[in-house]
Amino acid sequence: MMINRRLIETVPESKRHIAGNVAAQWISLVANIVIIFMVGWILEGLWNQELSGNRAILGSVVFLVGLLVRFICTRIAARESFLASKFVKQKLRQMIYQKLLRLGSHYTEKAATAEVVQASVEGVEQLETYFGSYLPQFFYSMLAPVTLFIVLSFVNFPSAIVLLICVPLIPISIVAVQKFAKKLLAKYWGQYTRMGDHFLENLQGLTTLKIYQTDGEKHKQMNEEAERFRKVTMKVLTMQLNSITIMDLIAYGGAALGVIVSVSQYAAGHIGFWGAFVIILLAADFFLPLRALGSFFHVAMNGMAASDRIFALLDLPEDPEKTETIGEEKDIVLQDVSYSYDGEREVLHHVNMKFPEHGLTSIVGESGCGKSTVASLIMGLQRGYTGSVRVGGREVSALREDSRMKQMTIMSIGSYIFKGTIRENLEMGRKGASEDEMWQALRQVNLAGFVQENGGLEMKLLERGSNLSGGQCQRLALARALLHDSAIYIFDEATSNIDAESENDIMAVLRTLAQHKNVILISHRLANVVPSDRIYVMDAGQVIEQGTHEELLQTGGQYARLWKTQAELERYDGKEVTA
Ligand SMILES: Nc1ncnc2c1ncn2[C@@H]1O[C@H](COP(=O)(O)OP(=O)(O)O)[C@@H](O)[C@H]1O
Ligand SMILES: [Mg+2]
Repeated sequence: MMINRRLIETVPESKRHIAGNVAAQWISLVANIVIIFMVGWILEGLWNQELSGNRAILGSVVFLVGLLVRFICTRIAARESFLASKFVKQKLRQMIYQKLLRLGSHYTEKAATAEVVQASVEGVEQLETYFGSYLPQFFYSMLAPVTLFIVLSFVNFPSAIVLLICVPLIPISIVAVQKFAKKLLAKYWGQYTRMGDHFLENLQGLTTLKIYQTDGEKHKQMNEEAERFRKVTMKVLTMQLNSITIMDLIAYGGAALGVIVSVSQYAAGHIGFWGAFVIILLAADFFLPLRALGSFFHVAMNGMAASDRIFALLDLPEDPEKTETIGEEKDIVLQDVSYSYDGEREVLHHVNMKFPEHGLTSIVGESGCGKSTVASLIMGLQRGYTGSVRVGGREVSALREDSRMKQMTIMSIGSYIFKGTIRENLEMGRKGASEDEMWQALRQVNLAGFVQENGGLEMKLLERGSNLSGGQCQRLALARALLHDSAIYIFDEATSNIDAESENDIMAVLRTLAQHKNVILISHRLANVVPSDRIYVMDAGQVIEQGTHEELLQTGGQYARLWKTQAELERYDGKEVTA
């Protein structure tokens, strides 16, 4: 199809401006016909040596008015073209943005970030030509030959018919090219996003690549990608150039044919000087609009390929609208929960856990046993689990995202520090937090002194907080989490980069927090979980033991063994064990 109906229906506002542009171009064409008629009329007068003063004056006045009309119409057409595309860009970007919001934190499961960025920035930009130039031209280039045909058929029917018959050759050649172009452009875009994806990832992981000296290898891979992209780009350009040459041949060949026919009609005495003159001058106008359409066509095709990608993004399945909010009591109950990320390997097996409304509950276990998976199930970040995960008595999968995010706070290794100031990062935790509250939170995580020495709350942070140490980033993320006033807190290895002394201070803060909040602590350092009201010990996706620290020590199971080794190690390290 040369017209993408869905794309147009997406922005019905633009239809008016497309029509406006077509109308302006059409009036301009009519003015052009009048001008040529007038020039022909005056020249014929000169030719026949019968040019009267009145005829000259009338001809010149109409000629000048025609020029003025054309000037105005060109301005209007340009303006309408701008307006037609302006709406499109705004609307589509808004739609993409809204879609991402609706997909919520799940969007990365379905679309790569680079793809989203390219679709919403460049992809949308490509549509400018489609709406601003291609679509109006599409309608105008049908209207123009028909108009000219009607007018010229009064001058000389055979010439008009010959010109009209040649016109469809241009769209036929466009359609032929399109068949081939569509596949090529899909390949072009595919290669483009692939390159963008890899570039983004390598850039983000550049430090790691350097450390393991694999940057050379990646460099080579990217060069290969770039080379493939260059080749496919060249193919696209060659295709465009060739098809433009073909269209030129048809357009100018057709115009030449018009000249030949009109001259022979003149020689046969069917038309006079004026008739021959106007046919020759208007013959090219039969073809020029379509020729222009052809040149917009390639850019528009690019836009259409981009729109396919944008629609694919907009069509990603969404979860049905959730309605439930977390209930009054803020306890959490996991009942017979099993879960697999990929649908094959199960990482949680029949897990049962309880986290009361107030109190400190801990989960411990070896790396990879499923602790973080439990946390993300509770947060409602994973779907497709079996069994039940109830937060405040409601199944987490039925909870609205805003309710989950308001009532639950998770702080983990993945917590993101944004470019900006300390204040801005803290304000994300609690909008409108007072300076006192911010400093209080910073003191709780032993970061206040450092912030004070470095410009206070206005201290500038780089992307990902890269001008802070790992431990400082964690403290700031912790402070932000503490400021976020929610009923449930999950701390997933929240102090893994923090020295034991500060860690003990932070644990004291969490214990106080747990007096009136539901606090879940995930830690590999058992010394931290000692004061918990309940400890779950996990192994390979299962809960193998549970109880208080004392109970677990008495049981003499896995926990007791781990405790013994860790206690010995820490004593050896010179670290203090709190129990
Ligand atoms: N996003 C993921 N996709 C697929 N598998 C995952 C993902 N995250 C974790 N896993 C797997 O699930 C298991 C449990 O991981 P996790 O809950 O992170 O363990 P823990 O936090 O106890 O170290 C591991 O075997 C891990 O490989
Ligand atoms: Mg983990």
